[in-house]
Amino acid sequence: MTAVKIDGKAVSASIRGQIQEEVVGLKKQGIEPGLAVILVGEDPGSKVYVGSKEKACIELGYYSEVHRLPDTTTEEALLALIDQLNNQANIHGILVQLPLPKHIHEKSVIDAIAVEKDVDGFHPINVGNLMIGDDSLLPCTPAGVIELIKRTGTDMAGKHAVVIGRSNIVGKPVSMLLQRENATVTMCHSRTLNMREISKQADILVVAIGRANFVDHTYVKPGAIVIDVGMNRLDNGKLAGDVDYEDVLEVAGAVTPVPGGVGPMTITMLMQNTLIAARRAHGLK
Ligand code: GUN
Repeated sequence: MTAVKIDGKAVSASIRGQIQEEVVGLKKQGIEPGLAVILVGEDPGSKVYVGSKEKACIELGYYSEVHRLPDTTTEEALLALIDQLNNQANIHGILVQLPLPKHIHEKSVIDAIAVEKDVDGFHPINVGNLMIGDDSLLPCTPAGVIELIKRTGTDMAGKHAVVIGRSNIVGKPVSMLLQRENATVTMCHSRTLNMREISKQADILVVAIGRANFVDHTYVKPGAIVIDVGMNRLDNGKLAGDVDYEDVLEVAGAVTPVPGGVGPMTITMLMQNTLIAARRAHGLK
C-alpha cells in the first residue's frame, strides 16, 4: 500500500478561496478584516513568517499593520503598543510573533492582548474556553491539523488518536480538539515509555516532538493517518519534518509532507480567525 499524500497547499488554497469570497461580501457591508502583527528583533525564521502573514493579508484584501521593532524594545513599550491596538477599531486580530527577546516576559505580553483579538488563541481565557468546549479563537496550527484530518474524509469519532508532543502551542491543544471530535486520545512525550508500541496503535497519529525524522514506519499502524507538525532545519539547510515521510509512505494510509502539509494551513487558519474576530466585532455570527 502506498499512502495518500495530504496536500496542505491545496486545502489551504481552497479555504483561502472561500475566505476571499467572504471578504468581498463583508466589504460591501463596510467591514474590512484587520490584522496587526508585531515582530520584535531580528530572528530570521520569524522575519520570514511575518512576511508570509503580511502577504496573505494583502492577497485576501485585509487591512494589515506590521510593527517591526528593534530587539532593544522595552516590555513597557510593547505593552503600550498592544494597548493601542486593543483599542483600535480597524484591528480585529493581534499577533505577537514568538519567540520574544529574553528581557520581555512572553506571558505578560500574551495576557495583555484583548481576548477577542487573540487570533493566535494563546490567551489563557481562550485556552480555558478550548478546554471546556466553549466558543473561542482556536490556536492556528492545531486547527489546521484537525481541518486536514477532516479533509481525508475520516470520521474521528471512536478512533484512537495518538499525539506525540505536549507543547502549549501544538500538543496540548491538538489533543483537546481531537477529543472534541470524539476521538480517544493518548498523549506521548519525551518521557513516555514504550512510545513505539503506543504510537503503533494509532488510527490517527499527530507528531509534534521537534526531532527530525523521529517517526519511521515502525511507529505506524497500517492504514493510519499521519500528520507531521515538525519543521526542523537540517545542517544542509533543508527542512525536515518529525516524520520520515518516504519511510512511512508504504505503511500509512495518508501522510502530510514537509513542506506542503501542516505549514501552509497555519497562516490560513490565522486568516480565518481574523475573519471570525472581525465578524464578531460587528455583531455577525
Ligand atoms: N512562532 C512560531 N509559531 C508561532 C505561532 O503560531 N504564533 C506566534 N505568535 N508565534 C509563533
